[in-house]
Amino acid sequence: MKKEKIYITREIPRAGIDFLSEEFEVEVNPEDRPLTPAELLEKIRGAAGVLCLLTDRINGEVFDAAPGVRGYANYAVGYDNIDVAAATKRKIPVSNTPGVLTDATAEMAWALLFSAARRIIESDACMRSGKWEGWGPLQFIGGDISGATLGILGAGRIGTAMALKSRGFGMKVLYQDAFENTVLEQELGARKVDFDTILEESDYLSIHVPLLPETRGLINADAFRKMKKSAYLINTARGPIVDEAALVDALRNGEIAGAGIDVYEKEPLAAPGLSELSNVVMTPHTASATFSSRNNMALKAARNLAAMLKGEKAPDCVNPEVYKM
Ligand code: DGY
Repeated sequence: MKKEKIYITREIPRAGIDFLSEEFEVEVNPEDRPLTPAELLEKIRGAAGVLCLLTDRINGEVFDAAPGVRGYANYAVGYDNIDVAAATKRKIPVSNTPGVLTDATAEMAWALLFSAARRIIESDACMRSGKWEGWGPLQFIGGDISGATLGILGAGRIGTAMALKSRGFGMKVLYQDAFENTVLEQELGARKVDFDTILEESDYLSIHVPLLPETRGLINADAFRKMKKSAYLINTARGPIVDEAALVDALRNGEIAGAGIDVYEKEPLAAPGLSELSNVVMTPHTASATFSSRNNMALKAARNLAAMLKGEKAPDCVNPEVYKM
């Protein structure tokens, strides 16, 4: 019997490709770059399922160009790149990869926090330049971490993991979320506060909300004005949650002390001026880039897609209402 075709929009770790290859004919974009929208439309024609990435825009036009596709498995926990409402309207299931990148992302948030506060990148550059002239009492002074106040904006899986990892530093933890987080309250004595309070009281504000219409531009010029001048902003969630031009102004004008940023408003570009500032540490959207996370993301996406094509409920379906229609 002829195997059904699955299209993978860019090479992912082998585990996912091997899993799918057992039962399906798998075609992978051979080039290590995102497909253009036109290429995407052309490539997925004739496929039964698509394993896509956060760099692919999957919308009504895509769904209609490939009516044979019975499911889209996103290789990411965030799925703001997919028009889920349009998928649901067409009864097409969509899945994501929750759980397997929680610790990796929280660890990256900590890495950025430490790098920004303790000025690791500037210090490293100084050493490499050969210009260091020996110990000095005023060199590279940065923010205190132990005992400081950590603000968690969005206390879901990753926000919770980030907060729990603060235990060794005796930090006061605040969080802002629509829901009470009893784990954080019981384990850390964390306090649920409103948006203004978290802005005003945090020494480190770490963003963990999804990108939604209501979180787009949430951290804007007004928010930076409310933050402490000594505060640091950490973003490992999605770039457009922060108004990046306002971030550049806030860092430049000393409205906040520094930032650690993994995600950008218009990836792969960073806002003009950001890379010229020494009080920001930047990584290229690599928070989930650990061996086990990326491997497990590949397997999870593959398992979801296989389930969709077999007519089973995908374990991580983000629009489960399609199964009731
Ligand atoms: C995600 O999964 O949403 C990350 O941004 C990439 O791993």
